Amino acid sequence: MLEIEVLPSSAGSAVIERVTALVNQVYAESEKGLWQGSTDRTSVDEVAAFVRAGEIAVALVDGDVAGSVRIQRLDDTTGEFGMLAADPARRGLGIGRDLVTFAERTSREAGCREMQLELLVPREWTHPAKQFLAEWYDRLGYRVTHRADLAEDYPHLAPSLATPCDFLIYRKELA
Ligand SMILES: CC(C)(COP(=O)(O)OP(=O)(O)OC[C@H]1O[C@@H](n2cnc3c(N)ncnc32)[C@H](O)[C@@H]1OP(=O)(O)O)[C@@H](O)C(=O)NCCC(=O)NCCS
Repeated sequence: MLEIEVLPSSAGSAVIERVTALVNQVYAESEKGLWQGSTDRTSVDEVAAFVRAGEIAVALVDGDVAGSVRIQRLDDTTGEFGMLAADPARRGLGIGRDLVTFAERTSREAGCREMQLELLVPREWTHPAKQFLAEWYDRLGYRVTHRADLAEDYPHLAPSLATPCDFLIYRKELA
């Protein structure tokens, strides 16, 4: 059975370590070729801070963490989700879609009227995982509202890039 819940601030180190490992595992694949060296997407300390802020939701399959997402509030009317990850061994079961639906529902209930997400894509070649995400987010109703050179938006990240990348912001109205 699939259940989605926000981790309580009292969550233990085992679940924090599991979320950290899952995010780093899936991003190592989905951002392959974008960064120089083996750049982890996140760390136990960062995930622990997000958990304390009530920002991490997990998908549990029979009690086991099978996916996660970070949900934030950007301002009074805008929610954002990021660090979306589903266990590669359980892909295609609806875990990713249910996590996005959960992020949208909880943001709407908190008074948000718009949802936002960010996507990094290589500019000169097509990355299959990014192509999948772009098409999927489009099917979910997200539209690109901002496209820029990552090196311009985040100059401090430029030296770590292995290839020129565009930074995209997608938005969707929450009905
Ligand atoms: C994005 C991600 C979370 C999706 O997780 P998932 O649980 O496999 O996704 P779902 O089962 O909910 O399927 C999502 C959609 O993809 C489709 N899909 C799933 N697996 C597929 C496959 N092998 N081939 C084609 N389509 C597939 C589903 O039909 C579904 O489409 P729909 O919502 O229009 O019906 C997962 O691929 C992932 O962890 N990716 C790496 C991390 C990442 O890139 N995160 C986002 C950064 S912005």
